[in-house]
Parts: sequence; C-alpha cells; structure tokens
Amino acid sequence: MFRSKIAGIGKHVPENVVTNYDLEKMMDTSNEWIVERTGIHERHFVTQPCGAAELALPACEKAILRAGIEKKDIDFIIVATTTPEHLFPGTSSFLQTLLDLPGVPTLDIRVQCSGFIYGLSIADQFIKTGQYQNILLVGVEVQSVGLNLNTEGRDIAVLFGDGAGAAIITRSDDKSEILSTHLYGDGRYAKDLWVDAPVGYQSPRISKEMIDEGRIYPKMNGRQVFKHAITKFPKVVMTALKANNWTIEDVDLVVPHQANMRITESVAKRLGLPLEKVFSNIHKYGNTTAASIPLALDDACAEQKLKKGDKVVLATFGSGFTWSSAAIIW
Ligand code: ACO
Repeated sequence: MFRSKIAGIGKHVPENVVTNYDLEKMMDTSNEWIVERTGIHERHFVTQPCGAAELALPACEKAILRAGIEKKDIDFIIVATTTPEHLFPGTSSFLQTLLDLPGVPTLDIRVQCSGFIYGLSIADQFIKTGQYQNILLVGVEVQSVGLNLNTEGRDIAVLFGDGAGAAIITRSDDKSEILSTHLYGDGRYAKDLWVDAPVGYQSPRISKEMIDEGRIYPKMNGRQVFKHAITKFPKVVMTALKANNWTIEDVDLVVPHQANMRITESVAKRLGLPLEKVFSNIHKYGNTTAASIPLALDDACAEQKLKKGDKVVLATFGSGFTWSSAAIIW
C-alpha cells in the first residue's frame, strides 16, 4: 500500500463580481438580509457562455504547476460538479479535451456539496492501491446560469456563486498524507434540495410547462437543510477525529463546505472550536457547492492559515442529503 497526499492546489473564479447590492436591483432582497442570514457579501458569476470545464481549466493549470508535475503525468481526471454543461457526457470529458489529454480516464461525480471529498476518497483509494500515481481532482460550479434571479427565486439565488478549485493527489513521500475519508448519504431527503427538470423519466425531458412552472430552478427546504447540516457536520468531524485518535484540540484547522456562515458558526460552537480554527471565505464567493472546499484550501494557504504538517479536517453536508469528512496532514 502507498500513502497519498494533496500535492498542489489551484483556484479560479470568474472576474465578474456580483454584490448583494447588485442583487437588490434584480429582486426584492437587501444586503442586510443576505449578510445577516448567510454571511455572504459578494459572489462571482460567469460572463456567459462559460461551461464548467472552461471555468476549471485555469485552476487545473495552477494545481499542476504547484504540484511540480507535468500535465502528461496525470493518470486520471475526476470532476465533481452539480452544474455540468450537458446531461451527458460529463464535464470531465470536456475538461480532458481542454487539457489535451486524450486517453486519460475521466469520471464525473454527482453528490453536490460533498463532491470534492467523495472525489478525494476515490482518488485516495486509487493512489493507495498503486493503480495511479497522479490524479487531477476538480470541484467546479457554474451555478449562476441555473438560478432564478427574480424575487420568486430569492431564497436560493442569493446563496450560490460560480468558481473552480483543483487538486493533484499523488503518492506521498513525506509527512503529508490523506489519513482517512468518511462518506455518507440519505436519499430520503433528496427532494429537500434539488432541481426537478429536465426530468429523466418523462418525454420530452424538458417542456415549456416545466420552464413556466419554474421546475428548472433549484428548490430548497431551508429549515430542513439547516437542521440536518448543524447536526451532521459536527458528527462527521468527530468521526474523522475518532478514526485518527485525534482530539478536537489536536486539529489546526477545520475546513467545512462553505454552505452558509450561520451553519459554520453553529458547527464551530457545537464542536467547541474558536472561529479562528474554522476556515471561512463565504463572504467573497457565496456557496460554490463542489468547488467550495478546494477554494477554501487555496485561500487558507494564501492566508497562511494552512501550513505544511498541519492537522486538517475537511467536512461537507449538502444535497442528497450527502455528507463526508477527511482527515489530512497538510
Ligand atoms: N431576501 C429577503 N427576504 C427573503 C429572501 C431574500 N433573499 N429569501 C427569503 N426571504 C424571506 C422569505 O420569503 C420569508 O418571508 P415571509 O416570512 O414574509 O414569508 C422570510 O424571508 C423567511 O426568513 P426567515 O424567517 O429567516 O426564515 P427561516 O428562519 O426559515 O430561514 C433560511 C431561512 C435563512 C434559508 C434558513 O432556513 C437557512 O439558513 N437554511 C439553510 C439553507 C442554506 O444555507 N443552504 C445552503 C445551501 S445547501 C448546502 O450547501 C448545504
């Protein structure tokens, strides 16, 4: 068995910044409401047309450079996204073409906010068994084009943003290591945060009626999401600690999926962690779903909150419901 590690990380967000004040001009909302309920001040939206693979490419190039490998060394491409370009094939196929890596296997993961850690777990297994040496793992979202930016969609529209983060997972030859990953799901709550249409079991899959009824937009039972998030996040962090014989005091940084600042604050409180030990950048990007963990890791490194040798716990909760954690020596 080999050991695995995150060898390089990269991020990319669209240049176009959309503030809460910009949203006030599109729908009946206010900067105060959004900041108080979510902690979000601004997010980035793509200038159309820009698909997930195109948005991810610069993040991949940075991660490859920082990992000290060359593009041709990549053995496998894994992409986690909720917002692929097309129903099929997956974003990873389009990204492989942009990277000019024909023949390299590609895999899309569809577990929404938990996608990056699910992908990390898959990459970890392939590295540990020795099948692959360098895996490109991407979390990317182009949420903006799928939001209802009118007042009817305001509960969801103010939350989400676009962005991409990429990581190179390699064999470890130093103290850095992915120690454990834990993955969970409960499909009984699938419709508490979902997009109904296009509908895969109906012909046609999309119709004017579906569009008129707003079934193409994400819908969320906010209270149900909040209730489950604030219990599942701490539980899955504790699972990671227990698996590695760590106490919460041993941990240098917890990097949660950036769902909502209120959720993050509640999780920190339940874990007995000071907020300085729980990384947050939601104020800048909003909720970027599968991209939020790699965006946070990149920012945490840039802000020197994450240093080589640090003990880190990553944690997610999101649509599905799915939730997960990873314990890492950075
Ligand atoms: N601007 C202004 N008003 C709004 C907006 C908005 N953007 N969105 C909703 N409202 C209104 C509603 O219409 C409602 O008005 P009404 O009372 O006249 O009917 C009112 O605000 C509801 O506000 P609250 O009383 O705060 O509602 P609640 O306590 O249910 O909280 C909230 C709503 C903030 C969504 C809460 O349920 C929550 O934080 N849930 C978590 C959801 C979340 O963060 N998901 C992240 C994505 S999922 C993930 O990544 C895990």
